Amino acid sequence: MAAPKVVPLAPLTTLGVGGPAELWVVESHAELVEATREPFRVLGGGSNLLIADAGVPERVIKLGRAYNDVRAFGPAAASAAGIWLGGATPLPGLVRRAAALGLSGLEGLLGVPATLGGAVVMNAGTRFGEMADTLQEVEVLLEGRLERLSAAELGLGYRTSALPPKAVLTRARLRLSPSSQTRVRARLAEVDAARRGQPKAKSAGCAFKNPPGDSAGRLIDALGLKGLRVGGAMISPEHGNFVVNLGGATAGDVVALLERVRERSSVPLETEWELWG
Ligand code: FAD
Ligand code: EPU
Repeated sequence: MAAPKVVPLAPLTTLGVGGPAELWVVESHAELVEATREPFRVLGGGSNLLIADAGVPERVIKLGRAYNDVRAFGPAAASAAGIWLGGATPLPGLVRRAAALGLSGLEGLLGVPATLGGAVVMNAGTRFGEMADTLQEVEVLLEGRLERLSAAELGLGYRTSALPPKAVLTRARLRLSPSSQTRVRARLAEVDAARRGQPKAKSAGCAFKNPPGDSAGRLIDALGLKGLRVGGAMISPEHGNFVVNLGGATAGDVVALLERVRERSSVPLETEWELWG
């Protein structure tokens, strides 16, 4: 393991916001156990996080290359036993490989820039499918010991799971269904079409969870708040539930912008992002 260093976290997130923390990139079980001896947080792809400008006092643990099994993904994923993949495996790579192999189950996750660990923790998904569809079991490091939890024990719901707060997801076992390249690619095209209205600029995906029976993006749009700006943060003109970083946005800008939206909304809006610091 490279020696832990204090680094700015902004470049490790998709929104590009956040101050410093001590970063521990771990490449083995022993390193992970060592890293978890003091208070910590786990960083995945940083695509659902708003990190404070002052940074975070805890260690930030990132699973390194040793936990990225994208190259190991193969036909075994459709076997009865499924396939174990490390927590740092990037979802976009898995979606691409599954399509090439004609395996179905991950299509709904096209366009989600997560690691497998973060996708399980948030039960990432779209209306076309979610992590829970293929997840069988996880391995977690909890208080220095590896344990296994079945998908049922994780209580996966809409953008939520009951993974114990201090657990590090080291591996997950997925099981996909045999299909054909043609069918999987047709489904991917459908998911892609549904995402076309989303901005390409730096963001952390949707800022708020959808309230029951409605879409936060539609609500924010109907309030006329698209394009609203605080400092370098703006409600995307393309989709009302995306906050984009125009360059140089601070966490303070983003928080103030979210507050302005909440003040105007008669429907309570709960953030989807995890706020650090
Ligand atoms: P992070 O954001 O790094 O972390 C999220 C949480 O997971 C934190 O609590 C973190 O501590 C925890 N975590 C991460 N890895 C581990 C681990 N190994 N062990 C324990 N805890 C861990 N989400 C959707 O659901 N659907 C979408 O369609 C969608 N579209 C998006 C589009 C864009 C352009 C962007 C930027 C984001 C989008 N998101 C979407 C949000 C985001 O990608 C998901 O919430 C994703 O699951 C976050 O995964 P991550 O690896 O980036 O986790
Ligand atoms: N809409 C508007 N104006 C907007 C945005 C949306 O009128 O500015 C309308 C759309 O026209 C559509 C409805 O609202 O009729 C729903 O919009 P969309 O299809 O974009 O879906 P969403 O509910 O806004 C959800 C997820 C996304 C996921 C998409 C695609 C949440 C909070 N959002 O968005 O997930 O990619 O569906 O399935 O659940 C995320 O979680 O980070 C995320 C991006």
